[in-house]
Amino acid sequence: MLYFIIKALHILSDFLLIGGMLINAFVIGMVPPTIRTGVISALRRYDRTVTTAALGGAWLFGLWLAFGYGFYTSGWFGFKFLIVIMLSALHGMQGAWMRRMEADPHLDPPAFVRAGLPIVLGSVVVIIALAVIKPF
Ligand code: HEM
Repeated sequence: MLYFIIKALHILSDFLLIGGMLINAFVIGMVPPTIRTGVISALRRYDRTVTTAALGGAWLFGLWLAFGYGFYTSGWFGFKFLIVIMLSALHGMQGAWMRRMEADPHLDPPAFVRAGLPIVLGSVVVIIALAVIKPF
């Protein structure tokens, strides 16, 4: 029973994390500089409260599942682990660039941050395939 509760909390955190990262990516990559400042200041509050908490929850419950139930030895988990480290780094960079772009809306973030939408969407496809199918 505890296993299912942890897994449910893990998936809930994942939903909120990915949703938040997609909003960040959309605003960073697609909202024009003329209206950026107001949108980013509203979004930064949401990112700090909801998306960052969800990132913490995804890690907490994910590591609990990995080490509490023995998944950490599996190949799929190692691969997924690398992808979630990359996503966590991207989330940190999104936060940092939204802070800078709120102060100066004409700044242009690096390609890795600008390409947030395809990176997050592609990562979700691979992560879910790995976690559900467990191909190796
Ligand atoms: C942040 C670090 C993360 C760690 C350490 C982690 C680890 C794990 C582990 C060990 C499981 C258990 C698999 C099982 O019970 O069958 C799991 C399940 C799952 N994870 Fe993660 N995960 C992380 C992030 C994510 C993210 C960001 C997503 C979504 C994009 C995600 C999606 C899922 C899904 C959908 C399952 C359920 C698989 C199933 O029940 O078949 N995880 N995760």
